[in-house]
Amino acid sequence: AIAMGKVVLGWFRLLDDPGAMLIRPFQSIDPYPQYERIRARGKVVPSKLGMLLVTDYELCSAVLRDPAYGVAPNRELGQPDLGIDGMVHPLEDSFLFHNPPEHGRLRRIVSPLFTPRAMHDRQARIEAIVDGFLDQLAGREEFDLVGEFAARVPIKIICDLLGVPDAEHRRMTEWGTTLAASIDGMGSIAQVRELRTTLRELNDFLAGMIAQHRAEPNDDVIGHMLADGSLTERELLATSGLLLAAGFETTVNLIGNGVLTLLANPAARQRIVDDPDATDNIVEEILRLDPPIQYTARLSLDGKAKLAGRPVPAGKPVILLTAAANRDPAVFEDPHRFNPDRPNAREHLTFSSGVHYCLGAGLARMEGGIALRALFRRFPDLRVGGTVQRRPSRVVRGPLRLPVRVTSRQ
Ligand code: HEM
Repeated sequence: AIAMGKVVLGWFRLLDDPGAMLIRPFQSIDPYPQYERIRARGKVVPSKLGMLLVTDYELCSAVLRDPAYGVAPNRELGQPDLGIDGMVHPLEDSFLFHNPPEHGRLRRIVSPLFTPRAMHDRQARIEAIVDGFLDQLAGREEFDLVGEFAARVPIKIICDLLGVPDAEHRRMTEWGTTLAASIDGMGSIAQVRELRTTLRELNDFLAGMIAQHRAEPNDDVIGHMLADGSLTERELLATSGLLLAAGFETTVNLIGNGVLTLLANPAARQRIVDDPDATDNIVEEILRLDPPIQYTARLSLDGKAKLAGRPVPAGKPVILLTAAANRDPAVFEDPHRFNPDRPNAREHLTFSSGVHYCLGAGLARMEGGIALRALFRRFPDLRVGGTVQRRPSRVVRGPLRLPVRVTSRQ
């Protein structure tokens, strides 16, 4: 059975399959040459595993915006029973995995909290959070850029949005890590158990938060959802959990990939420090060239969807390799080069497109820009200080551990 991002199958079928790279246990640190091999075979490449792989920018973009395509939770796609029936899963039960019109009903309730205006109002707070973590690194000469910086900023910001107290940030980090790791599918019974424990603990915790907000209303995300009054308890849990699941590791990896990219491009690194106006486009180019989320999937909802003029049978997964579309030479000149002045960097598909376009894109862009600028301003001689360890994931890309050395100013 094959489903959105999670695949279970016989190993023998992997041989010679261009889609196999998506599901093989993590091996390569560089997926981009593999995308080019798929691109060389055509705009739509059928995989022996029954998927259609799309690297072409226009086609990826068209599928994501086409109402004939939609999403479906794994549990509706013949996935093996993970023993999570009845439990709320923040990805699968949230609007990320609902189609219109249900999708719009749920998304509209939280979308006012993510407007450009709302983001602008949070800017000073985010700068203060970033500076706070950098202050804690003062005097250090070596640290793990991911564990001690990149992973801490997004959790703090999501906890801020949800009204979660500082004492719970460590547990939120653990839950968010397990949820992100589950996107690639379940590799072992131990991982299934861990997911079950995480769902139970996270939902208990969020239910407590919701009860507390009912008793003492306020204007954070949970308060806002309760004030709307139309969401069921399960929808409240799924929507709050979604913000953790969607907003945490993604942003950690934007910062991690951004640091690696800027270390390899000293001129851009200097510019992000000297010229605040250049930051936005540098962040867009980082998002284009090395996306935290490498691909997504859609299904033909009623069997009427077409791909490059040909019908797609209902239930056949179409894998949109957005990280490859971001390097489509028909849209991006010299696509493998990091070019901070690229005029159309922002056209990347890293935040998807269509109705599921990332709700947190504005927040992520702002967090990424603030974090990278402040980091390199504080540590002008920051350099890699050990072996960079990559995440064992195909979907989520970025460093898991990034040891750095700095000459710290006290
Ligand atoms: C959806 C990427 C940060 C909240 C998505 C999707 C992508 C994505 C690709 C759509 C998936 C699809 O179409 O199948 C990213 C990246 C981020 C990031 C690369 C960081 C660099 C955030 C943040 C938040 C957030 C910070 C909020 C705190 C959401 C939500 C959805 C979503 C709520 C569901 C939208 C919908 O289904 O209508 N994100 N995201 N994301 N993201 Fe993000």
